[in-house]
Amino acid sequence: MTSPRRIIIDTDPGQDDAVAILLALASPEEIDVLGITAVAGNVPLPLTERNARIVCELAGRPDIRVFAGCDAPLKRKLVTAEHVHGKTGLDGPVLQMPEMPLQAVHGVDFIVETLRAEPPGTVTLCPLGPLTNIAAALIRAPEIAGRIREIVLMGGAYFEVGNITPAAEFNIYVDPEAADIVFKCGAPITVMPLDVTHQALVTKPRNEAFRALGTPVGVAVAEMTDFFERFDREKYGSAGAPLHDPCVTAYLLRPDLFAGRHVNVEIETEGRLTTGMTVADWWRVSGRAPNATFMGRLDADGFFELLTERLGRL
Ligand code: BDR
Ligand code: CA
Repeated sequence: MTSPRRIIIDTDPGQDDAVAILLALASPEEIDVLGITAVAGNVPLPLTERNARIVCELAGRPDIRVFAGCDAPLKRKLVTAEHVHGKTGLDGPVLQMPEMPLQAVHGVDFIVETLRAEPPGTVTLCPLGPLTNIAAALIRAPEIAGRIREIVLMGGAYFEVGNITPAAEFNIYVDPEAADIVFKCGAPITVMPLDVTHQALVTKPRNEAFRALGTPVGVAVAEMTDFFERFDREKYGSAGAPLHDPCVTAYLLRPDLFAGRHVNVEIETEGRLTTGMTVADWWRVSGRAPNATFMGRLDADGFFELLTERLGRL
């Protein structure tokens, strides 16, 4: 058996972030969560760091270290998404306030120190929110880029274009300067854009399968997806709400569920209408060197089978 993959989850929970974290914590044989760094995004930092601790306790893992990172994008004012995730970021279920402590170390310091301390090529970063913490770590210690095994992130879009503006996906839009730094850093990058996450739709039967687990985790996940589904159904008129961030942790467990292309991806930071756009060279017309594997297809049934089975272990 191979040893579990060592990861840092960088996150702004968010119901879908919560499910991504739960999936990782349900899979200790394959995934070793070295720490969770919170960033401002869906809701402000005091809520995202608290929500990360709520989720760890829900998973029965108060031993996981949670760090607070940046409370605002590198150069811009924070844009939040309470209209999707509710006032707390985790609206839906009734959740216990966490008792586990927040770590004293800043999240960016934790990322830098971990990458410096661990053998090169052994730590994977899993950003599920705006890329502020990761970019801040790369600005502070550019040499860590060469020590990262892989960055597997949720963000961006190509064919699906945007969800917060007509041209941009939320995580990239909130801090495009940070995204630009990350996409240029030279580490291997795998992207879960809206093109993939919009295939991960929580249909009614899939939601019922979570609830039918009959556990606190299963019921909480069903209630969380019930909550943001109301918004998404109105917006997309689709069969259910997209479960974006769990695509990142599912990829670590079952990369075969995903298919994409290794292409050049650049971030628009100056657009008049397109700030935060991920300009992915899907058709390879730019001649620019590939810097990311940009996913385009998901085996959605396989994804939900995996997720439900793993959540059932908690
Ligand atoms: C992304 O934005 C957030 O609202 C979600 O948590 C996800 O990370 C989707 O655009
Ligand atoms: Ca998120």
